[in-house]
Amino acid sequence: MAIAIMAAGKGTRLKSKHPKVLHEIGGKPILAYVIATASKVVPPPDIFVIIGHEANRVRAALAYTGVNFVLQAEQRGTGHALMVAGEALSPYDQVIVLSGDAPLITPETIQRLSDFHAAQKATMTLLTADLANPFGYGRVLRKSAQSPEVRAIVEQKAATAQQKKIHEINSGFYAFSVPTLYEHIGSLSTDNAHQEYYLTDMAAVFHRARKKVVAIKTSDAGEVLGSNTRAEMMDLDALLRLAKCRQLLSEGVTIFYPQTCVIDSDVEIGTDTVVEPFVQLLGKTKIGSDCRIRSYSVIKNSEIGDNVTINPGTIMDDSRVAASAIIGPYSRLRPGSDIGEGAHVGNFVETKKIKLGKGSKANHLTYLGDAEIGEGVNVGAGTITCNYDGVHKHKTVIEDGAFIGSDSTLVAPVKIGRGSYVAAASCITDDVPADSLALGRARQTVKEGWARERAQKKPTDT
Ligand code: UD1
Ligand code: CA
Repeated sequence: MAIAIMAAGKGTRLKSKHPKVLHEIGGKPILAYVIATASKVVPPPDIFVIIGHEANRVRAALAYTGVNFVLQAEQRGTGHALMVAGEALSPYDQVIVLSGDAPLITPETIQRLSDFHAAQKATMTLLTADLANPFGYGRVLRKSAQSPEVRAIVEQKAATAQQKKIHEINSGFYAFSVPTLYEHIGSLSTDNAHQEYYLTDMAAVFHRARKKVVAIKTSDAGEVLGSNTRAEMMDLDALLRLAKCRQLLSEGVTIFYPQTCVIDSDVEIGTDTVVEPFVQLLGKTKIGSDCRIRSYSVIKNSEIGDNVTINPGTIMDDSRVAASAIIGPYSRLRPGSDIGEGAHVGNFVETKKIKLGKGSKANHLTYLGDAEIGEGVNVGAGTITCNYDGVHKHKTVIEDGAFIGSDSTLVAPVKIGRGSYVAAASCITDDVPADSLALGRARQTVKEGWARERAQKKPTDT
């Protein structure tokens, strides 16, 4: 058995310059869901994704899945998509056809479709659903109300007033006998509203040829929803994210006001972690147990250990935070930030490509970039690593137990030795050996009485 996924269309109704199947819901391209589900039914070498519009982009985005791609250079309809895949599918007996724009289908339903198709010894089996609002979908014309057999599928645009009242819709998922499909696919015509080859017309073609066409109805209509418009996509996105929240809640995570949170499909969270309202957890973010993720934090592709507090307004990308650390409010951890156990990163602190050791603190108004900072270091308010000379980036090393006074500038490459002190407001350009005090600032002078004399001076010019 093979699975073919139709994903070549442009998605005209989205009014987008990006291909429909690469639009994201739940933080991933729509097509990625369909491929992941298909991969649970057959191995990736038996999956054929039919691509066309922006084919190179689609292929590049999903190459990691290991599936095959078939090029439908000109998109002349869903029937044409299957014509183009004929050679690739010829070694198989049965093919399941999925739509690249309908991501909620489950492996169980695909298996049921396949089993029903085999049990009925059918040529074509379609998965159908009863939708309260069937507008836009193809309607299923059964031989009779109770019969599993189907005479035809009629598209929205071609449906008569009577047919438009039918609530049983064609989901766009099918099982076919491969040899019989390709014996008859040449009978499709483009005599319709879009002048395309409709795969749906195979139902009538087979019916006329006295081949068996049957329908199996899914009990969960939500599974077959497609995404032709941005409104439909947002409905799917909401469904997916709510399902994700429910799954996390069932696993022991507390999420306050889940409707206000944006949690991507691949995010993992440990038990007894609390997610406050208006939090975004994106990409492959992984959060440990007993954490608190406070409001307005946006965390992407990051790994957070157990018992961590992320205070409000923290922004974090591609970073790591070890257990019991406290971050924020208003911290910005840029890619490559690696924050040690129990460390503190406070308000208006920006970090990039740094290691901050166990128990170290950078609590206020600081920029730390390209730095390796040991354990138990105190970075005073307003400290800046000057890591960029206009051409190259240079590294700052601060060894264990060092104390950096407030408002210091550390001009990299530079090293502050173990246990040393840097006096406040120093500009440090040379390495500081261990256990030393470095002062790099002008000496203060005081002119006593200067201000009083100035005030008493008569203006010379009136
Ligand atoms: C299709 C069905 C409709 C069904 C609905 C379910 C047809 C004619 N109609 O309509 O009965 O109710 O799905 O969602 O099939 N594609 C290609 N190559 C093409 C054209 C389309 O690969 O030349 C792909 C699209 O990228 C998409 C899928 O096929 O992923 C379905 O095409 P779409 O245009 O969305 O069909 P619908 O109008 O939704
Ligand atoms: Ca569609």
